[in-house]
Amino acid sequence: MINSKLPNIETSIFAKMSKMAADHNALNLSQGFPNFPSDPALNALVDQAMSDGYNQYAPMPGDFGLRMEISKKIETLHDRFYNPETEITITAGATQAIFTIIAATISKGDEVIIFTPAYDCYAPTVELFGGKIVPIQLKPPFYSVDWQQVADMISSKTKMIIINSPHNPSGMLFSKEDMLELQDLAEKNDLLVLSDEVYEHIIFDGNVHQSASKFEALAERSFVTASFGKTFHNTGWKMGYCAAPENLMKEFQKVHQFVVFCVNHPIQKALATYLKDENHYLKLSNFYQQKRDFFLHLMEGSNFKIVPSKGTYFQMLDFSEISTENDIAFAERLTKKHKIATIPTSVFNEGRKDFKQIRVCFAKTDETLAEAAKILREL
Ligand SMILES: Cc1ncc(COP(=O)(O)O)c(C=O)c1O
Repeated sequence: MINSKLPNIETSIFAKMSKMAADHNALNLSQGFPNFPSDPALNALVDQAMSDGYNQYAPMPGDFGLRMEISKKIETLHDRFYNPETEITITAGATQAIFTIIAATISKGDEVIIFTPAYDCYAPTVELFGGKIVPIQLKPPFYSVDWQQVADMISSKTKMIIINSPHNPSGMLFSKEDMLELQDLAEKNDLLVLSDEVYEHIIFDGNVHQSASKFEALAERSFVTASFGKTFHNTGWKMGYCAAPENLMKEFQKVHQFVVFCVNHPIQKALATYLKDENHYLKLSNFYQQKRDFFLHLMEGSNFKIVPSKGTYFQMLDFSEISTENDIAFAERLTKKHKIATIPTSVFNEGRKDFKQIRVCFAKTDETLAEAAKILREL
C-alpha cells in the first residue's frame, strides 16, 4: 500500500464537468479550450517538420530557433532581453513549466502565497514538495488585490508568490500599479515570483499586458510562463515555455531534464517559423474581444449579473438572482436539465467559498455561443 502524497485531491473539476457534458449531451462551455481549429498553415508546418526528419529528441532546453523567436517576442513586447542560450526553456504546456518551477524552488516548510480563486495545479504541486499554501481570497465582482493584505500575509517562511494575469477564472487584469506593488514586496522580502501568463495575448478594451518581465527588479526574481496552446488554438499539443534569469533558469533546467528531458520536436520547429509573423499573436485580443462582445450582447436582458471579462477567454456569471442553490448544484442542474456545462468556481476558492458564480468559456464558434446564450437567457 502507499500513503497518498495528495490525500485530499480529487479528479479535477474540468474532467468532471466535461464528462458530465458528454454523458448528458450538453453544450460544453466548461473546460478552457476552443472548439474551432488550429490554423491549417501551422498544422502544415508540423507536417513539414516531420517530413523533414525532426522526429528525434530536441535539444534539452528546446529548439534554438524557437527560443530565439520567443526571446525576440518578449524583447519587442516588454523591452526585456532573455538570452535564448541560457534563459528560455520550451515545456510541455505551462503546466509542466509550473510543476518544474515549483519542484526546483520549493522545499519542506516554504510558504507560497496564491490568490484564490486559483488555477487548480498550483496548490497540489506546492504540497507535493512539502510547501505550504497561503491563500488570499479575492472577491467578486472585481477580484482586485489588496496589497496591504498581501504584505500582512508575508512571513519569514514565505518563498514565493504565484500570480496569474489575465486571471482565470475571473477575467481580472493586474495594472501597472499592481505590478509595482508586487515588485516592491518581492524585493523587500526577497521572494520569488511565478508569473503564469498563459492568457498574455487575450486582453480587451485597449488594456496592455503587464508581464512580470516588463519590470526590472521583478523580472530578476520571476519565472514567467506562457502557453502556445492558448495562443494558437491547439491546447491538445501541450506546448509552452518558461523564461527566467540565468541563475533561476539553471535550477529550472536541472529539474526539467529529468521531468521530460525535452518536448515535441516537430511542433517546436513549426512554432519557430509560425512565430516569425507577429500577427499570429497580436491579432488574438481582437479576435477574442469580438467573441466576448458577441456573447455579452446576446446575454443582454438575462437574469445573470455580469462584469465584462477584461482578459482570458472566460466570463464569470453571477446567478444569485436566479437560484439559491450552491454553485455546484446549480452547474450540475444546468448540465443535466438545460444541457449546458459550465464551471462552478467555488472549487477554486479558499474553503470552497461559494460566491454564486459560474464560469463559461467563450472560445467557441458563434453558433455555439448563440445556442448557449439562448439557454442561459431563459433561466
Ligand atoms: C491559468 C492557467 N495556467 C496554466 C494553464 C495550463 O496551460 P497548458 O495547457 O499550456 O499546460 C491553464 C490552462 O487552462 C490556465 O488556465
